[in-house]
Amino acid sequence: MTATQQDKVFQVPRRLQGIQPTLIRQIFERALPGSINFGIGEPDLPTPQFMREEAARVTLEEQNGYTSHAGLLSLREKIAAQYPHLNLDANQVCVTVGSQEAMTAAFLSIVEEGDEVLVPNPAFPAYENCVHISGGKTVFYRLPAEKDFAFDIEEFKSKITSKTKIAVVISPSNPTGKIFTKEDFQAIAEVLKDTGIYLISDEIYADLYFTKNAPHSASEFYERTIIVSGLSKSLSMTGWRVGWIASSQTDVVKAALTLHGFMTVCTSTISQKAALLGWTDEAERAKADAREIYKRRGEFLIDILQKELGLRATAPEGAFYTMVDVRRIGDDAEVAEKFLQNRVITVPGIAFGSEAKGFLRVSFCNPEDRIEEGVRRMKEALSK
Ligand SMILES: Cc1ncc(COP(=O)(O)O)c(C=O)c1O
Repeated sequence: MTATQQDKVFQVPRRLQGIQPTLIRQIFERALPGSINFGIGEPDLPTPQFMREEAARVTLEEQNGYTSHAGLLSLREKIAAQYPHLNLDANQVCVTVGSQEAMTAAFLSIVEEGDEVLVPNPAFPAYENCVHISGGKTVFYRLPAEKDFAFDIEEFKSKITSKTKIAVVISPSNPTGKIFTKEDFQAIAEVLKDTGIYLISDEIYADLYFTKNAPHSASEFYERTIIVSGLSKSLSMTGWRVGWIASSQTDVVKAALTLHGFMTVCTSTISQKAALLGWTDEAERAKADAREIYKRRGEFLIDILQKELGLRATAPEGAFYTMVDVRRIGDDAEVAEKFLQNRVITVPGIAFGSEAKGFLRVSFCNPEDRIEEGVRRMKEALSK
């Protein structure tokens, strides 16, 4: 090696430049010991016992070598069957390391340098970063705060250009807890018809809904939909890293699979084998129980925020988040900071986009007594 080569300073490649840990992560890192965590987007309910027992059995009794890159055939068949309207076969599914990998792989498989990607504002911050990594340009469409963050087709339509390659939808939403209606998806399908634009549908919260019926999937209405989903939230399996990409767009799944093979080889075989129980009656009961628990907690939280603090929060339709309107009290980042100093973690809306400025995302991954104590600390912080 020559001296000049040795002296060269490491330069992060352009695709990774400007990517910072999210504001959410930065807040967690500054949390005081004993804080009540309304900031987290992770189920606090235990992973169902039958899943744990199956993983333990598989570990002890079976040889767990690699699976095929795409994942166990039997697991892919179960995932495919979850979308009967698409009539998928197993090669239209790839099991990934959580839905996060499915999402990143989807962007990297479709986006070319300079392509535009429509992303909701507010939204999960990962989308914007994935678009950046894949060389695209994020164009935000507003989910208007004045409409309680409901989808607005005219706003969506106004952002489409000849460069639009992908649009992202998420239902139920992180951070708003809102669900896209059938009419929303029909309107999107109508607008996207014959444009060639892909729709990435983040369905990681699809099983956590508080409405009478399960939310619709965008894929019921628009063919060029790429579903990213997984078991992390519905079965409290965040650390098990089981997700998937599923789509009738076989070429996109194939491209994602190639990338997945080189990034990970395959998802943990033990997790995949346990995940085979994710569609049993027992699993469906666990999902239903989780829905019931989060629904009850969400209602409790909204009620107590109103009673104790006079703050209005959006009524969640799914996931485990509500957006609390703090505009009356002050700037969202400052209010979140006050709460943080009094040992309550919340996330300022601005972490999810400009449209959520003036709101806090508050999650209800805590039992009622912790929620009560958290709101008490919030009240105390505001009176200081
Ligand atoms: C909207 C959304 N999508 C995807 C993910 C990634 O989840 P996982 O990789 O555990 O499936 C999360 C996690 O918080 C999320 O909130």
